Amino acid sequence: MSVEWYDMIAKRNGGYKSDAVFTIEGLSGEAVFEDRLKSMLLHFETVLDAGCGDGEFTVKMARYATRIIGFDNSVELLKIADALKSQYQAENVQFAYGTTRSELPFEDGHFDFVYTRRGPTSILNHSRILRSGGTIFGIHSAEKNKVLERLEQNGFVDVEIEEFNDAMIVFPDAGEFAKYLSASHGNPDYTSEAHRKELDRLVSEHSQEGRLTLKEWRYIWKAKKP
Ligand SMILES: C[S@@+](CC[C@H](N)C(=O)[O-])C[C@H]1O[C@@H](n2cnc3c(N)ncnc32)[C@H](O)[C@@H]1O
Repeated sequence: MSVEWYDMIAKRNGGYKSDAVFTIEGLSGEAVFEDRLKSMLLHFETVLDAGCGDGEFTVKMARYATRIIGFDNSVELLKIADALKSQYQAENVQFAYGTTRSELPFEDGHFDFVYTRRGPTSILNHSRILRSGGTIFGIHSAEKNKVLERLEQNGFVDVEIEEFNDAMIVFPDAGEFAKYLSASHGNPDYTSEAHRKELDRLVSEHSQEGRLTLKEWRYIWKAKKP
């Protein structure tokens, strides 16, 4: 996804987030990922959050970790991440600019554990920064075959992958639905009049028995560097 879009959402919404109101019904892959991550973090010394965005999740996870470095290629999101680090006095967190499109600014084998929450799947092409025996762990909502391909191409072993297809995101009205969609990677601003028609079409597509819902499809993957 383009860095311009992430810079834009950082400025417009103050982070990669929205203030949309919704509830989640059913087992959410996101919740499972977070729980599993919390229980894994303590076992590793040096952790990388690949595509850390505005750093809110990184700072939250730092409570369960010894040390986390987050990198991202959106300068605007990184500004927010640095401000959050100071606000929460998260001394064991560091944020850095990096793009998976070129060499990352870390030594070979620097990390014991790399995780990514819907960050660039091309982190898998940077296995050199993970130590031998280290673990890589992620959650995504697209490109499952690409992840499998990259895991194989880059020589990862003990690959595990699990899909989560049960959770339903439920919105109280079209306004909240529009806010949520507008903050999802690459989308236009559905809250603006210019996208009214498109929003109406999406509302009718996702309305069923008087409820406005979106299915949350995710897969969680894990592998080791031999
Ligand atoms: C869907 S957001 C997830 C952000 C964060 N992990 C979270 O859970 O809130 C994807 C993030 O990956 C970053 N990103 C996308 N492509 C990237 C790349 N090639 N190199 C570095 N960061 C990238 C974006 O700037 C964005 O912050």
